[in-house]
This record gives sequence, C-alpha cells and structure tokens, in this order.
Amino acid sequence: MKIGVTSDLHTDVTLLNKQILPYIVEAAEKAALDIFILAGDLSPNLLELAKILMAFTESNLNCPKLFVPGNHDIWVSEHPDITSEQKYDAIAAVCRECGFHPLDATPFVKNGVGFCGTIGWYDYSFRRNEYNFSEEAYASKQLLGSVWNDSNYAKWDGTDPEVAHRFENKLRNQISSIKDSVSQIIVTTHHVPFQECVPPRGTLPWDFFSAYMGSQGLGVTCLEEQLVTHSLFGHTHVPIRQQVGDVTAICSPIGYLHQAPAGDLSAYAQERLTCFEL
Ligand SMILES: [Fe+2]
Ligand SMILES: [Fe+2]
Repeated sequence: MKIGVTSDLHTDVTLLNKQILPYIVEAAEKAALDIFILAGDLSPNLLELAKILMAFTESNLNCPKLFVPGNHDIWVSEHPDITSEQKYDAIAAVCRECGFHPLDATPFVKNGVGFCGTIGWYDYSFRRNEYNFSEEAYASKQLLGSVWNDSNYAKWDGTDPEVAHRFENKLRNQISSIKDSVSQIIVTTHHVPFQECVPPRGTLPWDFFSAYMGSQGLGVTCLEEQLVTHSLFGHTHVPIRQQVGDVTAICSPIGYLHQAPAGDLSAYAQERLTCFEL
C-alpha cells in the first residue's frame, strides 16, 4: 500500500502558495497512491478550503483521501460569529461533500490498515526548560512584540491544555476502537506529537513559540500502542523524517513560499509530497 502525505498548503498566504496547488495535485496523481493524506493548514477561508479539496477530488487521483484540519483552518477570523468547535464540525461536513474522509470524525480502514487522526493542539508541554516563562506568559501567546496568531483567531471553548487533552483523548479512543480489527495503525495529526521533532534554535521568540507546536500526550498515545508504525503531521514548516521509538515520524509541508523555491514549483511539489510503502 502506497501512502502520500503533504500539509500546510496555506494558499491564502502568497501567490506562489496559490500557484503551487495544481502541481501538488499533479504530483499526487503521478504517484499512483493507494491513500492520500492532507495534514491541515489549507486556508482559514472555508470556501477556499473546499476549493482545494475539490481540486484533488476532480483530478485523476482515484484513491481514498483523508484530511485533518490545521490551526489555520479552524481560525474564525472570517467567521467571527462561530466558535472553532463549530468551524471544526463544519470542516468535517465540507470534507465529506468534497470527497475527503474527515479522520477526526471516524477512523478509516483499508486492507487491514487503520488510519486515525485529529488536529491535536498544544498544552505548553513543549516549553523549553532553559527559559522560565510562566503559564500566564504562554497563555498570552505574545513575546517581544510578536504574537502567535491563534490568540486572535482560534476561539476554542476551553484553555489550550484542555483543548489539547480533548484531542489526545479522542485519538486514544479512536486507536482503541479499531486496534482489535487492524494489523497496523497510521496516525495523522496537524500538531507535532514529539518534542524531539522541534529542536531549539537558541533564539527568541522562536523558542518561546515552540510551546505552540504540539503536545507530548499525542506522542505518548502513538508510542504506547504497538500497532502505531507511522505518525504523520504538519504545522512545523520544516520537513522531517525521524525515527522516534518504534514510530516513523514524517512531516512533509509546503510551508510559506515567500520566495520561489529552488528548482521549479513542480519539483518542489513533488519533493513535499512524501510517499512511503507499507
Ligand atoms: Fe502551517
Ligand atoms: Fe499549523
């Protein structure tokens, strides 16, 4: 079974991010995939998100397509009358209408392989011990004049740790619900499950903001179930392929294209669609 994963298309951020979409679709078509996975951060605009999903569905990519939203997708900047929970549910409905399987709603099983997933969130467990910022400082999501934009646009019902633990529990329940009927489990989250995948840079505000990359509970959930062989995620715009215990961690993001990538968009799209065989 050949699986392809990418994330963080961010088509609203730059013209190049918009222009690369057909090349990603083409890369996925050519890869002859059995499963295609998008690990979130397409666009805060629900209509734009639907258009991106439809670009894949209307292509020659004739395999099951799975999706988990990213933090930018649940931003309510353009829909200030709803909560992020409501937007999360709306995204699941849009997903189904656009031919994608919303992994957070229910796991997906193909040929005895289970796919579980959720957006995940952060509980500041990725905070760096070399700094002494308070819980309140992390909750403010601001440092040195820089702001982590979830503070303006993500409107969850609960604190960050509460939201993170809610999604960790959801993932744990998904894994429990299928583990007796599958031979292997692939987990997809948007947020990062392993702190070792977010190395410190020794600079602020980055090392402060790295607290918003993910939660250790996501990683523990993957590592404690022997059937979980792969953890796919996005959010950090750095490509990653790293072994963590028995789990292969893969992040394959497009990221912000403020400058044209080396090579052309087609080559970059192919590079950022990571494919692996089971
Ligand atoms: Fe992103
Ligand atoms: Fe993100």
